[in-house]
Amino acid sequence: MRRADDEIVDALARAGRWIEAYYREPQRYPVFSRARPGELSAALPQAPPEEGESFAAIFADFERLIVPGITHWNHPRFFAWFAISATPVAVVAEALAAALDVNAMVWRSSPAATELEEVVLRWLRDLLGLDAGLHGIVYDTASIGGFTALAAARESLDLGIRERGMAGRDDLPPLRVYLTDQTHSHIEKAAIALGIGRDNVVRVPVDDAFAMRPDALAQRLQRDIASGMRPMCVAATVGTTSTTSRDPVGDIADVAKRHGVWLHVDAAYAGSAAIVPEFRYLLDGCERADSVVVNPHKWLFVPIDLSVLYVRDLELLRRTFSLTADYVATPETGVRNYMDYGLQLGRRFRALKLWFALRRLGVAGMRDVLRGHVALAQRFAAWVEAELDWEVVAPHPLSVVCFRYAPVGLDERRRDERNAAIVDAVNAGGEAFLSTTRLHGHLVVRLAIGNERTTEDDVRAAWKLLRNAARQADRAFRDS
Ligand SMILES: Cc1ncc(COP(=O)(O)O)c(C=O)c1O
Repeated sequence: MRRADDEIVDALARAGRWIEAYYREPQRYPVFSRARPGELSAALPQAPPEEGESFAAIFADFERLIVPGITHWNHPRFFAWFAISATPVAVVAEALAAALDVNAMVWRSSPAATELEEVVLRWLRDLLGLDAGLHGIVYDTASIGGFTALAAARESLDLGIRERGMAGRDDLPPLRVYLTDQTHSHIEKAAIALGIGRDNVVRVPVDDAFAMRPDALAQRLQRDIASGMRPMCVAATVGTTSTTSRDPVGDIADVAKRHGVWLHVDAAYAGSAAIVPEFRYLLDGCERADSVVVNPHKWLFVPIDLSVLYVRDLELLRRTFSLTADYVATPETGVRNYMDYGLQLGRRFRALKLWFALRRLGVAGMRDVLRGHVALAQRFAAWVEAELDWEVVAPHPLSVVCFRYAPVGLDERRRDERNAAIVDAVNAGGEAFLSTTRLHGHLVVRLAIGNERTTEDDVRAAWKLLRNAARQADRAFRDS
C-alpha cells in the first residue's frame, strides 16, 4: 500500500505538469468543445466505484473524458461573453485554499481568512478609487452580491419584512425596482426571489448609447410614488453585458437620492478597469451609491469565482441577514463574522487568490494587461469600421465590440440569419469562439477580450475567420 504522502506528491506533480502544459499552449484544443449533448453522460458509469481507484486511473479519465468536453476559456481566441483568464499563481492559491479547506464563516474558524479578506478588499477599494465609506464582502458571483444588496435595500425601508414577511399584509405598498433592458438578468431574478415580483420591475428607457435616461427614471419614480408605490432600488450598470454601456451613475444618484431610493451599481465587468487611472471615471458617482459590485473573476485575473460587494451601511447588511444559532456563536468581540452578511453560512477562502494575483502581477502589471485588452478591442473596431459590408453597432469604450455583417441590399431578417450563420461557422471551426446578443431586436456579434494571452495576432485571426465565414455564408445563401 502506498503511503498517502507519496500519492499526493505524485498527484500534484502530475497535475502541475498538466497545468503547466495547458497554460503554455491552450490552443492545442479546439476552443469550443466538440462534445455532443449527452455524450459525456453516456460515457460515464451509472454509479461511483465501490472500491477506491488509483489517481492514475482517475487522471487518465480526466484527460480522456472531461477535457474533450471543455470549452477553453483559457484559449487566447476565446472571445465570447466576457472572456476571462486567471493568472497561474492565483490558480495555485486556489489549490492552497482547497488544501487548507477552511470554512471562513466566523473569525475564529480561520482568523487569516477573515482578516485577509478585509485587507485585500480595502486594497481593491482604494485601487478602484471607491471611497472609504464602502466596505467589501466576497461572494461567489455578482448575482449573489446583487441579491444581497437588494435584500439590504428592502430592509432599509423599515417595513418590518424581516420579522413579519410580506404575505397577507395590506399595509405594504408594492415595492419597485428600476433598471433598463440592458441590465443583467440577476437583478430581476433577485426581485423574484425577494418577493418583489416581476410586475414591479420597472424598465427605464435608455438613450442611443444604451444608457439609462435619468429624466425617464425621475418620471417613473414620481409616477409610482404618486400612485402609492414604494421605490426600493435603482440598479445602475457600469459596463452592461451586451455592449458595456455605462449608465450615468452621478445623474442617476441625483434622482435616486432625491427620492430616498437605494442605489445599487452593477460594475461586475467594467469596475475592474477603474484600477487604471484613465478608466477611473467609470466609477464616478459611486461615492453616492449604497452598494457596488465588482467581479475580480471577470477582469482581475483570479479564477472563477470571486465577486465583491461593497456596501455603505455594513450594519444594515448585518441586520438584514444575521441570525446566530447557538452552535456557531463565538465569544470574540470587535471581529467580523462573515456569516452575518449574507445568505450562506459556509464560505470558501476566496481572498487568498486575489492576494496572490495582486502581488504576482502587481498593480502596474494588471493595469498593463487591461490597457492592452482595451487597445486590442479598439484596433478590432477600427478594422470592422473600415470594411464596407460590416458595421460597429454600439460604442465600445472598453474591451468588447458589438458589430455585424450588414451588406447593403440585405434586409434585416436576412442580416440576422447571416450573422448567426457566420458565428456558428467560426465557432464550429474550433479556432475562435464568439457569442452574440440582440440590440434593437437585431442579432449582433460580440468580440470580448479578457484573456491574458490574447495578442493582436489572435484578434486578427478571428477577424479573418469572420470575413471568410461571411463570404461562405453569402455563397451558401445564394445557392440555396
Ligand atoms: C454586468 C453583469 N452583471 C452581472 C453578471 C453576473 O455575473 P455572475 O456570473 O458573477 O453572477 C454579469 C455576467 O456576465 C454581467 O455581465
